[in-house]
Amino acid sequence: MTDDAKYVVIPLHHRPDLIKDCCKLLNSEWPRSETARMKSLNVSCDSFPTCLVLINDKDRVLGHCKISLVAKSKVSCFIESVVIDYRYRSQGLGSRLLRGVEEYVARRGLKNIYLKTDGQEVFYYKNGYKVCDPFKAYGINDIITASPPLGRTKFKERNGDQSAGQPLPPPPPPMPSFQLSKFFDMRMLSQKTHMVKKL
Ligand SMILES: CC(C)(COP(=O)(O)OP(=O)(O)OC[C@H]1O[C@@H](n2cnc3c(N)ncnc32)[C@H](O)[C@@H]1OP(=O)(O)O)[C@@H](O)C(=O)NCCC(=O)NCCS
Repeated sequence: MTDDAKYVVIPLHHRPDLIKDCCKLLNSEWPRSETARMKSLNVSCDSFPTCLVLINDKDRVLGHCKISLVAKSKVSCFIESVVIDYRYRSQGLGSRLLRGVEEYVARRGLKNIYLKTDGQEVFYYKNGYKVCDPFKAYGINDIITASPPLGRTKFKERNGDQSAGQPLPPPPPPMPSFQLSKFFDMRMLSQKTHMVKKL
């Protein structure tokens, strides 16, 4: 159990002084350029997307979660980039962060929190999330575009990068979803587990 009085979950844009620490936390888990990371954190605002951070009584950033509205929905959001500083894991702080997220979105009248995960199903299950059908976070095509079965990077890793030092060719135009969905079960295209919690 966590000593609740020691921790608080707050919007990152209310504490711009913590953005750099949050950037470091995210990059320690999912390395990315600092510029790109700072750019994505700086979009946090009261009207979504919102980045929430879990901090302790010494203003140390221990966790992060990004909340976005599901396209065309007034009652559903999805969360991503959920992370707890690796030095502070397995102490209940991930659950504390989710509780803060749930209280935050409930106060804004939202009813459902969706997420995708690849490996943390038990953590979310223990926090009341249930497996659900794939949701369309960004709109009609996002099941295909957000989780390609074999992304370019993975394809190059598996097949040996023949083009080291060469500029990448432009990506092919996106396939219209109505054609793909004729041939594939949409769930087969997404390798992640989709989960939801109804508040
Ligand atoms: C996933 C993560 C946020 C969990 O944070 P945490 O602070 O360690 O989680 P908690 O201590 O609150 O765990 C809550 C419960 O979930 C369980 N749990 C947590 N991670 C688990 C895992 N990977 N597998 C199985 N159970 C897990 C804990 O054992 C605990 O169970 P209990 O209540 O029965 O004791 C953290 O491990 C993390 O940052 N991972 C790397 C980033 C990541 O994968 N994020 C998820 C992206 S979808």
